Amino acid sequence: MRIALGADHAGVVLKEQLKQHLDRRGIQYEDFGTHTSESIDYPDVATVVAREVAAGRFDRGVLVCGTGIGMAIAANKVAGVRAAPVGDERSAALSREHNDANVLALGARVTSAELAIRLLDLFLDTPFAGGRHQRRLDKIALLDQGSR
Ligand code: RB5
Repeated sequence: MRIALGADHAGVVLKEQLKQHLDRRGIQYEDFGTHTSESIDYPDVATVVAREVAAGRFDRGVLVCGTGIGMAIAANKVAGVRAAPVGDERSAALSREHNDANVLALGARVTSAELAIRLLDLFLDTPFAGGRHQRRLDKIALLDQGSR
Protein backbone atom coordinates (compact mmCIF):
# COMPACT_ATOMS: atom_id res chain seq x y z
CA MET A 1 0.00 0.00 0.00
CA ARG A 2 1.23 3.49 -0.87
CA ILE A 3 0.01 6.55 1.02
CA ALA A 4 -0.04 10.18 -0.12
CA LEU A 5 0.34 12.54 2.84
CA GLY A 6 -0.39 16.24 3.18
CA ALA A 7 -0.92 18.88 5.84
CA ASP A 8 -1.28 22.60 6.30
CA HIS A 9 0.69 24.53 8.93
CA ALA A 10 -1.70 23.35 11.68
CA GLY A 11 -1.11 19.71 10.80
CA VAL A 12 2.58 19.65 10.00
CA VAL A 13 3.72 18.31 13.39
CA LEU A 14 1.11 15.56 13.49
CA LYS A 15 2.01 14.64 9.90
CA GLU A 16 5.58 14.00 11.04
CA GLN A 17 4.32 11.77 13.87
CA LEU A 18 2.16 9.83 11.40
CA LYS A 19 5.19 9.40 9.12
CA GLN A 20 7.18 7.94 12.02
CA HIS A 21 4.37 5.47 12.60
CA LEU A 22 4.21 4.52 8.92
CA ASP A 23 7.99 4.00 9.01
CA ARG A 24 7.60 1.67 12.01
CA ARG A 25 4.95 -0.29 10.09
CA GLY A 26 7.03 -0.37 6.91
CA ILE A 27 4.30 1.33 4.87
CA GLN A 28 5.43 3.43 1.90
CA TYR A 29 4.36 7.04 1.63
CA GLU A 30 5.11 10.30 -0.12
CA ASP A 31 4.86 13.61 1.68
CA PHE A 32 3.32 16.37 -0.45
CA GLY A 33 3.92 19.05 2.21
CA THR A 34 3.70 21.47 3.77
CA HIS A 35 6.99 21.13 5.60
CA THR A 36 7.08 24.19 7.87
CA SER A 37 4.83 26.05 10.30
CA GLU A 38 4.46 28.95 7.87
CA SER A 39 0.78 29.54 7.18
CA ILE A 40 -0.57 28.04 3.96
CA ASP A 41 -4.04 27.42 2.51
CA TYR A 42 -5.25 23.84 3.09
CA PRO A 43 -7.07 23.51 -0.29
CA ASP A 44 -3.70 23.79 -2.07
CA VAL A 45 -2.42 20.61 -0.40
CA ALA A 46 -5.75 18.80 -0.25
CA THR A 47 -6.20 18.98 -4.01
CA VAL A 48 -2.68 17.73 -4.73
CA VAL A 49 -3.12 14.67 -2.50
CA ALA A 50 -6.69 14.08 -3.67
CA ARG A 51 -5.64 14.12 -7.33
CA GLU A 52 -2.83 11.66 -6.64
CA VAL A 53 -5.31 9.24 -5.05
CA ALA A 54 -7.99 9.79 -7.70
CA ALA A 55 -5.43 9.11 -10.44
CA GLY A 56 -4.51 5.80 -8.79
CA ARG A 57 -0.91 6.77 -8.13
CA PHE A 58 -1.52 6.16 -4.41
CA ASP A 59 -3.87 3.73 -2.70
CA ARG A 60 -4.90 6.12 0.08
CA GLY A 61 -4.43 9.69 1.17
CA VAL A 62 -4.03 11.16 4.64
CA LEU A 63 -4.58 14.89 5.16
CA VAL A 64 -4.07 16.87 8.35
CA CYS A 65 -5.25 20.39 9.17
CA GLY A 66 -6.54 21.99 12.36
CA THR A 67 -9.83 20.12 12.43
CA GLY A 68 -9.70 17.82 9.40
CA ILE A 69 -12.82 19.53 8.13
CA GLY A 70 -11.33 21.93 5.59
CA MET A 71 -9.09 19.24 4.14
CA ALA A 72 -12.06 16.89 3.74
CA ILE A 73 -14.26 19.53 2.13
CA ALA A 74 -11.56 20.41 -0.40
CA ALA A 75 -10.50 16.81 -1.13
CA ASN A 76 -14.10 15.76 -1.74
CA LYS A 77 -14.31 18.21 -4.65
CA VAL A 78 -12.03 15.88 -6.61
CA ALA A 79 -13.96 13.18 -8.48
CA GLY A 80 -13.30 9.71 -7.16
CA VAL A 81 -12.21 10.88 -3.73
CA ARG A 82 -14.13 9.83 -0.65
CA ALA A 83 -12.51 11.81 2.15
CA ALA A 84 -13.64 11.21 5.72
CA PRO A 85 -12.99 13.70 8.52
CA VAL A 86 -12.55 11.37 11.48
CA GLY A 87 -12.04 11.94 15.20
CA ASP A 88 -13.11 8.67 16.82
CA GLU A 89 -12.30 5.01 16.37
CA ARG A 90 -15.76 3.80 15.35
CA SER A 91 -15.98 6.41 12.60
CA ALA A 92 -12.48 5.50 11.40
CA ALA A 93 -13.50 1.85 10.99
CA LEU A 94 -16.91 2.65 9.47
CA SER A 95 -15.39 5.12 7.02
CA ARG A 96 -13.71 2.10 5.50
CA GLU A 97 -16.38 -0.59 6.06
CA HIS A 98 -19.33 1.44 4.79
CA ASN A 99 -17.86 4.29 2.74
CA ASP A 100 -14.66 2.78 1.32
CA ALA A 101 -13.03 6.09 2.25
CA ASN A 102 -9.82 6.58 0.32
CA VAL A 103 -8.70 9.74 2.12
CA LEU A 104 -8.52 10.18 5.89
CA ALA A 105 -8.71 13.75 7.19
CA LEU A 106 -7.41 14.34 10.71
CA GLY A 107 -7.56 17.40 12.96
CA ALA A 108 -4.34 18.15 14.79
CA ARG A 109 -6.00 20.77 17.01
CA VAL A 110 -8.77 18.46 18.14
CA THR A 111 -7.22 14.97 18.11
CA SER A 112 -4.23 13.78 20.16
CA ALA A 113 -1.30 12.20 18.35
CA GLU A 114 -1.96 8.91 20.16
CA LEU A 115 -5.58 8.79 18.97
CA ALA A 116 -4.65 9.98 15.47
CA ILE A 117 -2.27 7.03 15.14
CA ARG A 118 -5.02 4.62 16.20
CA LEU A 119 -7.36 6.22 13.66
CA LEU A 120 -4.72 5.90 10.96
CA ASP A 121 -4.25 2.20 11.75
CA LEU A 122 -8.00 1.57 11.57
CA PHE A 123 -8.19 3.47 8.29
CA LEU A 124 -5.37 1.41 6.81
CA ASP A 125 -6.40 -1.99 8.17
CA THR A 126 -10.19 -2.07 7.88
CA PRO A 127 -11.57 -3.56 4.64
CA PHE A 128 -14.60 -2.27 2.73
CA ALA A 129 -17.63 -4.45 3.44
CA GLY A 130 -19.14 -4.17 -0.06
CA GLY A 131 -22.69 -5.48 -0.51
CA ARG A 132 -25.37 -2.84 -0.01
CA HIS A 133 -22.67 -0.25 0.60
CA GLN A 134 -21.36 -0.66 -2.94
CA ARG A 135 -24.76 0.34 -4.33
CA ARG A 136 -24.54 3.58 -2.35
CA LEU A 137 -21.02 4.29 -3.52
CA ASP A 138 -22.17 3.73 -7.10
CA LYS A 139 -24.69 6.54 -6.56
CA ILE A 140 -21.94 8.80 -5.23
CA ALA A 141 -19.84 7.96 -8.29
CA LEU A 142 -22.73 9.17 -10.46
CA LEU A 143 -22.58 12.48 -8.59
CA ASP A 144 -18.91 12.71 -9.55
CA GLN A 145 -20.01 12.40 -13.18
CA GLY A 146 -22.63 15.13 -12.71
CA SER A 147 -25.38 12.74 -13.74
CA ARG A 148 -27.60 12.66 -10.68
C1 RB5 B 1 -6.03 26.94 9.78
O1 RB5 B 1 -6.01 27.96 10.72
C2 RB5 B 1 -7.29 26.10 9.93
O2 RB5 B 1 -8.40 26.84 9.52
C3 RB5 B 1 -7.16 24.83 9.15
O3 RB5 B 1 -6.06 24.12 9.61
C4 RB5 B 1 -8.33 23.85 9.24
O4 RB5 B 1 -8.66 23.61 10.57
C5 RB5 B 1 -9.49 24.13 8.40
O5 RB5 B 1 -10.43 23.32 8.34
